[in-house]
Amino acid sequence: MKQPRNFYRPLAIGAPAPAREPEVALERMIHFVPPHVEKMREKVAGLIGTVDVVLGNLEDAVPAEAKEAARAGFITMARANDFKATGLWTRVNALDSPWALDDILAIVGAVGDRLDCIMLPKVEGDWDIHYLDQLLAQLEGKHGLRKPIRIHAILETAEGMRNVEAIAASSPRMHGLSLGPADLAASRAMKTTRVGGGHPGYRVLGDAHGATLGAAAGDAKGAPRADTRASFQQDLWHYTIARMVDACAAAGIKPFYGPFGDFADPQACEAQFRNAFLMGCAGAWTLHPSQIDIAKRVFSPDPAEVTFAKRILDAMPDGGGAVMIDGKMQDDATWKQAKVIVDLARLVAARDGDMAPRYQL
Ligand code: GLV
Ligand code: MG
Repeated sequence: MKQPRNFYRPLAIGAPAPAREPEVALERMIHFVPPHVEKMREKVAGLIGTVDVVLGNLEDAVPAEAKEAARAGFITMARANDFKATGLWTRVNALDSPWALDDILAIVGAVGDRLDCIMLPKVEGDWDIHYLDQLLAQLEGKHGLRKPIRIHAILETAEGMRNVEAIAASSPRMHGLSLGPADLAASRAMKTTRVGGGHPGYRVLGDAHGATLGAAAGDAKGAPRADTRASFQQDLWHYTIARMVDACAAAGIKPFYGPFGDFADPQACEAQFRNAFLMGCAGAWTLHPSQIDIAKRVFSPDPAEVTFAKRILDAMPDGGGAVMIDGKMQDDATWKQAKVIVDLARLVAARDGDMAPRYQL
């Protein structure tokens, strides 16, 4: 076990000291760009300021023959733009692939001073993070980088799920975790071909014969009445998101929902994003431009909720005691809930000129 006093020591001579506190950043959407496609690289300038994070994707969805072009394209787009307050991330190839090492060496060497975070796919345990942590420290020392590059792990294997708490707490370099529902479904042998979201077959069925509490109501012969037999679709991802959120919150890092693959179903995308938001996630990936507004809407708190939360904070300026507001009991715990919402609204208001007046903070 690493001794506590060593946790915040640089892992290589010349590397910057690990950050003690997470950076406070608004990251409602991590927008994926395929950097090997010139036309898409040219759109990056227009994304800056409209999305919270731009991510150059080198991993899945980039064909093997385009891996090197994607790596070079990312370096080109990182150099060609001033990202200002918009985060710049890359998703490198998995550590067991033939490309990961060159992705990391080339990108950190060329544009490490512009890169905020490396998203690492298919993380199985804390050993994967320790490897990248050490390598990044060596490269930071070698290239004279002053700000530590963060690591964001994708939770997308059954083994990674089993080790989620250890992964979240593995290094002060950890930024957060994203759920990767496609790879995770495959790894678990779930029987779905979808990328995230629900499945119509995953449901609970009400009792036969239309039974309700205290009365068995069927037809005269007791045959099931299909029309009255209630059936509700359940959330395939509830357990996974809940575990990820707890692991992240306990470690002081941020949980994210990952991709939603059905671009033709914005309603289902919004429902999936909202479930994640309500359960504690900070944002989601956007793979298609149409998903940017959905993520912005969902991961910015609702103005009516912000107004109510603000009333709680105003009624209890020192954060303690108990008051009633609109018939609802408020105490130290609801004060903390309200603070989560108001703090997020302040971040959103500082970024989005159109949201600021709606929050009236
Ligand atoms: C994302 O990478 C996923 O596998 O869902
Ligand atoms: Mg994946």
